[in-house]
Amino acid sequence: MTEPSIANATPTARGRDRREREPRLAVKWGQDIYRTVDWSLTGLLLDAVPEEIWPRPNEAVKLTLLPLQDGLPSVDVMARLARRGDGWVGLTLATMSREVMDYFALALLLHDAAKRGVQPLSTALLPKTRAVLDAEQQDLRSQTIHNLMLDAQRVAGLEVGASVQAKLARIVDAAPLKEIAAWAGELSRLPGSHPEWVALIEMLTVHETYLFREPLQLNAMAALLPDRIADAASRDRRLTLWSAGCSTGEEAWSLALLALRAMVTAGVASEQPGHGFTLHPGWRLDVVGSDVSRQVLRVAEAGVYATGEISAFRALPPEMAAYFPPGEEPRTRRVRDDIRPFVRFLPYNLVDEATPVRAADVVVCRNVLIYFTDMLRVAVQKRLVTQINPGGLLLLGTTDRLLAPGEVEIIEREGTVLYRRRD
Ligand SMILES: C[S@@+](CC[C@H](N)C(=O)[O-])C[C@H]1O[C@@H](n2cnc3c(N)ncnc32)[C@H](O)[C@@H]1O
Repeated sequence: MTEPSIANATPTARGRDRREREPRLAVKWGQDIYRTVDWSLTGLLLDAVPEEIWPRPNEAVKLTLLPLQDGLPSVDVMARLARRGDGWVGLTLATMSREVMDYFALALLLHDAAKRGVQPLSTALLPKTRAVLDAEQQDLRSQTIHNLMLDAQRVAGLEVGASVQAKLARIVDAAPLKEIAAWAGELSRLPGSHPEWVALIEMLTVHETYLFREPLQLNAMAALLPDRIADAASRDRRLTLWSAGCSTGEEAWSLALLALRAMVTAGVASEQPGHGFTLHPGWRLDVVGSDVSRQVLRVAEAGVYATGEISAFRALPPEMAAYFPPGEEPRTRRVRDDIRPFVRFLPYNLVDEATPVRAADVVVCRNVLIYFTDMLRVAVQKRLVTQINPGGLLLLGTTDRLLAPGEVEIIEREGTVLYRRRD
């Protein structure tokens, strides 16, 4: 953890009016300024620091934060004073305890009251006890979590269940509350594509996946591929498969292998030892993996996965093992080079209307829509179905319900369900 610090700013030149010469104080955590407070208020907190010791640089001092009201103990804090070249003075706290944060929270309440023009500050504005202060913080906390939930729903379609709510609560509790609330307010004005949102959605979603997940469903899909290949032969000799919400890519690589092997069986591709897969002239295979998270896409593109018990390879069928030779790092395996040209990965938020794939033969969207509201699920499912060629297939997760029937028919095979777009 970086060292918490308090840095104050502006020289204390005598002769200026009181407000102007009073330094402002910022609560810092590493490089991030969490709050700037008028010195006149923090002076209430730090009036045990005699002004004459300020100019001495890097000297350890003991600050006593005096109780502002009943119910708060006084707190001793070890700090160092540091002066910057421009004459500003900084205080670095050795520890930032809960009690110290309470003092700053109080300072902020006072500061906000002052900003509302209440002069002089009335003690009636102060919470009577620490319990009241906690209750106020609690209100802001719930409100902040609630706002983040609504925004996460708006920008990424996330339906906020208990697990997402718990994650948001942990995020909100990880930094001073007022600062987090302000950050949430700023976030609310940013588009979903902004890196801040992308990072947050990343933390809120689950990226669990592995090769050949749900083998029964994938095998049922593979059994229907000859029809798709025949259809492509009568069209443009192009086979397109899309893993929407591909996470770290295992699903897309699995689709590619199933498609390549089906193309070999159909006589439109060949597989030679030492040369791998080659498509026959005029044929194309385009497997697309998309995800809202750029972090997982980087892993997907690398196509190198750790081995181990709960790894990408946990359900790898023995006949597929040869497509994943050992990687350069110990205890890793990588996707064989000849398979890579058929697969590409790109960022796409399923909430966005403009899809990156059109005229797909197979769309797989599994274990993604579980996060979405019903309304969004319907919209996304409709959008995906629209991008499927007539007769093409849609695979949803085993717990996903089909909410946009109409254009697809249900196919039940070997105890598993997939959907086919009506001709
Ligand atoms: C549990 S993984 C599923 C991976 C794979 N489909 C599977 O079933 O093994 C869910 C993925 O959905 C992605 N996701 C969540 N919300 C998304 C959205 N709005 N748009 C696109 N992807 C999203 C997450 O980033 C995560 O990688």
